[in-house]
Amino acid sequence: MDFTLSEEQLMIQQAARDFAQQELLPGVIERDEAQKFPTDQVKMMGELGFMGMMVDPAYGGSGLDTLSYVLVMEELSKVDASASVIVSVNNSLVCWGLETYGTEEQKQKYLSRLATGEIIGAFCLSEPEAGSDATSQKTTAIDKGDHYLLNGTKNWITNGNSADVYLVIAQTDVKKAHKGINALIVEKGMKGFEVGPKENKLGIRGSDTHSLNFNDVVVPKENRIGEDGFGFKFAMKTLAGGRIGIAAQALGIAAGAYELAKKYSKERKAFGTEISNHQAIAFKLADMHTQIEAARFLVYKAACDKDNDGNYDLSGAMAKLYASQVAMETTVEAVQIHGGNGFVKDYHVERLMRDAKITQIYEGTSEIQKIVISRSILKQ
Ligand code: CAA
Repeated sequence: MDFTLSEEQLMIQQAARDFAQQELLPGVIERDEAQKFPTDQVKMMGELGFMGMMVDPAYGGSGLDTLSYVLVMEELSKVDASASVIVSVNNSLVCWGLETYGTEEQKQKYLSRLATGEIIGAFCLSEPEAGSDATSQKTTAIDKGDHYLLNGTKNWITNGNSADVYLVIAQTDVKKAHKGINALIVEKGMKGFEVGPKENKLGIRGSDTHSLNFNDVVVPKENRIGEDGFGFKFAMKTLAGGRIGIAAQALGIAAGAYELAKKYSKERKAFGTEISNHQAIAFKLADMHTQIEAARFLVYKAACDKDNDGNYDLSGAMAKLYASQVAMETTVEAVQIHGGNGFVKDYHVERLMRDAKITQIYEGTSEIQKIVISRSILKQ
């Protein structure tokens, strides 16, 4: 498989790299510490076309392929994984789902503003008792004729407070189990919809993660995505693509930590020479580079599969499983190469290490990816 990037892809990659250095890097430590949402940076990313990268230009998007999106995710994540998860959720979990399964009215009303970053979206599947076990939805959307009455609680919702549009998965007919689940578009400000407290997190602290409460929220029928009962399939199909975005995020975190560690190892001296001249350090760098290249091939392959109608459920799950493992291992080694300085916030690698952990958890834990992979290969 040929991953030679086109002129356009190289330009997009460079634009993301420049943006990350110029606009994300300054203040990234402070935003992490204060758990401050990158409001200005998200606005700029909207102007650059990063918030609706794969959306048709007719709906305000950039009309690019998944590989371009992955390149941008990788570059942003090298510097600020909090900013990149906001991009990932808006692109993969919200815009893609709306563009693929939404009605023309829903696209006109929501997609064009989401794709330009004028407003932000959130994807609401997880619940206090339904994380990995996603079919066990307790949130209910009772059919009342012309509307649904929505009740329940969602947990760990990325963009929880800053979003304007929420795609909420809820159970309409419990007797039909997962076939009785619907996906509804809920707007901030709907009566009975409240944003709960912000989570105080280990990593990606610049993104806002909240619980959400729905108390008798009246959601018009025209806000349902797809046919009655399509909500669980909608969530699964959307997440299959989302996992490619998170795999690219993990790849970027790993690559960012590796680049910092390599640079540091050529500057820092010990025992009379740069530490990169010590085999103990050089071999670590060799392992890191090899693992990152392998992760990159898996991530790019999954992106190409999505663009070419391949089985990206499988390749996306493999990419996320492996890239997130590489992100964790590489960031730990990057801290080790930095020694005492690695433990200090100014050198960035400790933040990347903290940020890496979530890539093994959200949008399906590593264990869930193994379920998806094993079921897929055993079916073949
Ligand atoms: N595409 C289409 N349909 C799919 C599918 C896919 N990728 N995966 C499953 N389905 C369908 C199945 O075909 C089945 O439908 P039928 O009965 O009609 O055949 C239905 O969904 C139920 O599937 P399973 O029987 O396989 O269901 P399961 O209970 O065994 O669970 C699972 C499957 C893969 C483990 C699923 O529950 C899962 O993915 N869990 C993890 C959830 C997750 O990723 N949560 C992340 C939260 S979102 C987040 O983190 C966002 C954020 O803010 C960053």
